[in-house]
Amino acid sequence: MVMAEKLNKNQTYLDLDDKYVNPVLSRSARIVAERAQGSYIYDMNGDAYLDLATGIAVNNVGHCHPKVVAAIQKQAAELIHTSVTVHHKRYIELAQKLVEITPKSLDSVFLANSGAEAVEGAVKLARYVTGRPGIINFRGSFHGRTMLTMALTTSKLYYREKYEPLPGSIFTVPFPYTYRSHLKDNPNAVVDNVFEHLDTLFQQFIHPEQVASFIVEPVQGEGGYVIPPKGFLTRLRKLADKHGIMLIIDEVQSGFGRTGKMFACEHEPVEPDILLMAKGIAGGMPLSGFVARREVTSKWLPGRHGSTFGGNPVSCAAALAVIDVLQEEKLPERAAKVGGEMLKRLQKFAQDKQYIGEVRGLGMMLGIEFDDKDGKPSKEIAEKVAERCLENKLIVLTCGVRGQVIRLIPPLNISDSDAEKAMEILEKSMTF
Ligand SMILES: Cc1ncc(COP(=O)(O)O)c(C=O)c1O
Repeated sequence: MVMAEKLNKNQTYLDLDDKYVNPVLSRSARIVAERAQGSYIYDMNGDAYLDLATGIAVNNVGHCHPKVVAAIQKQAAELIHTSVTVHHKRYIELAQKLVEITPKSLDSVFLANSGAEAVEGAVKLARYVTGRPGIINFRGSFHGRTMLTMALTTSKLYYREKYEPLPGSIFTVPFPYTYRSHLKDNPNAVVDNVFEHLDTLFQQFIHPEQVASFIVEPVQGEGGYVIPPKGFLTRLRKLADKHGIMLIIDEVQSGFGRTGKMFACEHEPVEPDILLMAKGIAGGMPLSGFVARREVTSKWLPGRHGSTFGGNPVSCAAALAVIDVLQEEKLPERAAKVGGEMLKRLQKFAQDKQYIGEVRGLGMMLGIEFDDKDGKPSKEIAEKVAERCLENKLIVLTCGVRGQVIRLIPPLNISDSDAEKAMEILEKSMTF
């Protein structure tokens, strides 16, 4: 009886959700969250789930970190909204902070609300200041779901099909996805192949002087947690410089300590022209932004872009607290250390399992890719593993162009014992 009542509490809300919420909004787990703390989400029944999804790389400092909660509460009591009517100090303080933590040459900040909005703003900036139309993106990328960002997204057909016509002047080349490449034994050749495609593009599709920007994820997120071979971004930077093309690096998923550095592009000596951020920036408050050089942004005339809610005081206060926590608790370093240990352990576990094609990772951005018996991507196995994890109260998400990858995105301050617990559940769930 007690059990039946318990189950009903979640179910009551799920029934209401089915009735009132637009069915286009899909959720991975049929759990109704009541609250969350640290690495755990608690459902309406009071059951605790260890969260290795973190709202898709958002809760980098854990759920409801006390410092972030306090900053939000304080700010909400002082000033919630101004829009563009007046300046406010949290925007200015955050802009200063973001300039401090992003690559050296970047010194001019614009704040928005979502990742897609940041992408849109950055592309507008690149087109406006270069006077060129072309944008080059990479196969398997995910940049959002608005009209423009959908056109830049090729990680799955269903994100874009039936929404045509999409904005034009977007040209897509392969991403150096070593594991699924016919050149997989030679990562350098995989990168060469990308640049051959770019060369063809410039010969046959669009003159490089008509290209405003490249847009690239330093580690592909939705596309499968794909880490390009070292040197790829550096080479892309060189090509961009040669043709006066801007390099937009989309760190929406990889930013804020996730990969073991504050931003993933820091793993190579590369500075983008525009760095995009969202997700982990404000502990779950809606905020995004992009940072560029003032020399570039000073050519973008006032009023040519803007936002009613972007950079609202409460989100900015949360972001300032998140960045403090990341720095004080040395969370990028912890992501590198604990993420590295998880990677090694999972790679060892995978050694004698034909159906685990590859385990890869950078910091706490870890992907486990599954193969069927013919070595083809297996969505079926990835989904089965995610389902089994959930039965054992561990939340993980899938990704990958065929849904064949489990991604692990823990809070960067996950405790050693919870990391151990997660590994045990995962290993059990991946044993067939
Ligand atoms: C790399 C990347 N860019 C952009 C976006 C879009 O962000 P949002 O969903 O906040 O619009 C995402 C979202 O997953 C992302 O992973």
